[in-house]
Amino acid sequence: MPGVDLRYRLLYKPAVFAASLVPLAWLVCCLFGWLGFSAGVDPVKFLELECGQTALNFIFITLMVTPARQLAGLPHLLRLRRMLGLFAFFYAALHFTVYLALDLEFDWRTLGADIAKRPYITVGFTALLMLIPLAVTSTNRMMRRLGRRWTKLHRLVYVIAAFGVWHYYWQEKKDVREPLLYAAALVLLLGYRAVRVRCPGRLTPRAHITS
Ligand code: HEM
Repeated sequence: MPGVDLRYRLLYKPAVFAASLVPLAWLVCCLFGWLGFSAGVDPVKFLELECGQTALNFIFITLMVTPARQLAGLPHLLRLRRMLGLFAFFYAALHFTVYLALDLEFDWRTLGADIAKRPYITVGFTALLMLIPLAVTSTNRMMRRLGRRWTKLHRLVYVIAAFGVWHYYWQEKKDVREPLLYAAALVLLLGYRAVRVRCPGRLTPRAHITS
């Protein structure tokens, strides 16, 4: 379809890029008390939690691209997926950096002990490690080079999402309703994918949409 390429390049991609930076801008405003925002009494904890939450949100938004494009008949939405996935990695890395630099003050020994002894940290760290190969292989060149193996490798995102939710659930001391909501959303996304694989035409509203 002529014009779609141009629209994505000049309009949609820059808009999604700018929107993806809004959480970061908001965090900066909270930290410096700009525009009436505040990071509360414990800014380090605030930053840590907000970055973790944002990383998880981006993982889920990335996972929603495929169902959204298939159900809404917008195949070109796929062009936004890589950017969203990379933002998930960016916020997860920021979450880890805040923890390491501001919470632990680069105390590597405590980091090692936390990873080894605190199960929710072990799970979060594993999720972050799994995100690295996905970020590294997100280029067109790597996609071409890996061929079918690229698709297989990138299915890891479902495991990462599950680990992210598990990590969230485990670190939550009082109210686990929100992590459970994420878990339910993940079950829905996986269920959708399972139905698509088993009965390909079933969830396709328009005949021209490819899986
Ligand atoms: C894909 C990777 C990760 C995701 C998606 C993620 C997500 C989250 C989420 C959603 C929260 C709770 C936020 C809230 O309550 O609003 C959280 C908390 C936390 N995460 Fe992660 N995380 C990840 C990796 C890591 C790693 C690598 C570490 C450290 C090694 C880590 C350490 C923590 C800590 C210390 C907390 C706060 C716990 C507390 O104070 O109660 N996370 N994370």
